[in-house]
Amino acid sequence: MKKKIPPGVGPKFPQVVVLVGATGDLSRRKLLPGLFHLCSAGFIPACRIIGVSLDDIDVEAFRRIVRGALDEFGQREVADDAWRAFSGILDYVPLGAGPQVLREAVLRAEAAVGTESRRLHYLSVPPAAALPAVRLLGEAGLVENSRIVMEKPFGTDLASAVTLNARLHEVFREEQIFRIDHFLGKEPAQNILAFRFANGLFEPIWNRNFIDHIQIDVPETLTVGKRAAFYEGTGAYRDMVVTHLFQILAFTAMEPPTSLDPKSIGEEKFKVFRSMLPIKPEDVVRGQYNGYRAEEGVDPESETETFIALKCFIDNWRWAGVPFFLRTGKRLAEGQRIISIAFREPPKSMFPPGSGVGAQGPDHLTFDLADASKMSLSFYGKRPGPGMRLDKLSLQFAMHDTGMVGDVLEAYERLILDAMRGDHTLFTTADGIERLWEVSTPLLESPPPVRLYPEGSWGPKSIHQLIAPHAWRLPFERAWRAPNASGG
Ligand code: BG6
Repeated sequence: MKKKIPPGVGPKFPQVVVLVGATGDLSRRKLLPGLFHLCSAGFIPACRIIGVSLDDIDVEAFRRIVRGALDEFGQREVADDAWRAFSGILDYVPLGAGPQVLREAVLRAEAAVGTESRRLHYLSVPPAAALPAVRLLGEAGLVENSRIVMEKPFGTDLASAVTLNARLHEVFREEQIFRIDHFLGKEPAQNILAFRFANGLFEPIWNRNFIDHIQIDVPETLTVGKRAAFYEGTGAYRDMVVTHLFQILAFTAMEPPTSLDPKSIGEEKFKVFRSMLPIKPEDVVRGQYNGYRAEEGVDPESETETFIALKCFIDNWRWAGVPFFLRTGKRLAEGQRIISIAFREPPKSMFPPGSGVGAQGPDHLTFDLADASKMSLSFYGKRPGPGMRLDKLSLQFAMHDTGMVGDVLEAYERLILDAMRGDHTLFTTADGIERLWEVSTPLLESPPPVRLYPEGSWGPKSIHQLIAPHAWRLPFERAWRAPNASGG
């Protein structure tokens, strides 16, 4: 049975989605399964989806690709009637067919859903293909009544991001543009804002006086798979850091916004980016997994990094002197997404030598950004029994235990709905992105050499020097507590 969708969650008007890059990796993994869920669960009043890509295929072949994507990557079961309905709203236009054919397909779709519909153009294409796609939409006369979602990375450096913004503005108005960063659509990312600003408990200690350092660590077990064409020219820094990790850093570090509207949040995030010191190449470790150069489509002498770890600073009143350590990479030992806040240790210890105090690192507040989020606060407590032996203990929260996990929308689903409703709150801004490219310039201009690392490891050895005298939280010394089985 369909769940009742609360009013205001979905768009008011029927939507015609033009999905450029419709047969690509992101589209198959996330966008098509996400659109399927949004349509079949009733979030969108009516919808038509026009796939566009370089592949010269017809609509039947596109339907087969979509079905394959739902079966392979969808998290939910595909019921026969839901699939029949969804396959009926799909259309396909090969890029080579030109603007006029695309326009006709959109007009047909609009005629089918009613004149009150809105257009959502989703550009799921690499940076170099973004402008040609924007031009195509302009030539097809599809700008009016539309919104456009641009995938990251937005440009590849400061100059290209500035040019892309300028060209984009020749066709679309700023309020039509949604620069997506799907990490901001993750439920636990928004929970950072709730946790920080809806509670009085931690705010007084959320600063340099109490926090020693912060880690944002997103190791992945995946290889580049079939994405070499995209990844070779992108690498881990542009793919993950200048995008997702810096956005998460902004949520963690920003001042309280005056309200939750897009302008106020955008302003506070921008202030964080403005206070960031330029990334120094000597504070960066670039790595590449053994075997990357043998992957299909990869240059045998590739210098593209599949791993990056770095130290950066936010030079403002709240954070001056507090290092932020960021790490992410492919083909690592574990897939995790954590933010770990390390608190300062007490100034003096009265506990006898050998009691164990401080032996397992400082107290930590840890956010796990998995879809079903988890949080943990670790501290030293007394081990029961005689004497005074201390152990690291923790308070843990798991969304699983609340019984609300079923309500979680996948990040792309949430953001597609927001774009359809015209809500910019969880999207990135042009000035914010340009500033991030600006702080990245020293690194992009003189990147340190890539160091090879074994598949299934935690990266090149020099990551330990980068963080010394601290240590990486991952791999965890103590595993998360298993979710409460009765919690539903
Ligand atoms: C994408 C990157 O934006 O994010 C991928 O292009 C990466 O390389 C992915 O694997 C990670 O996202 P998630 O939601 O799976 O953590």
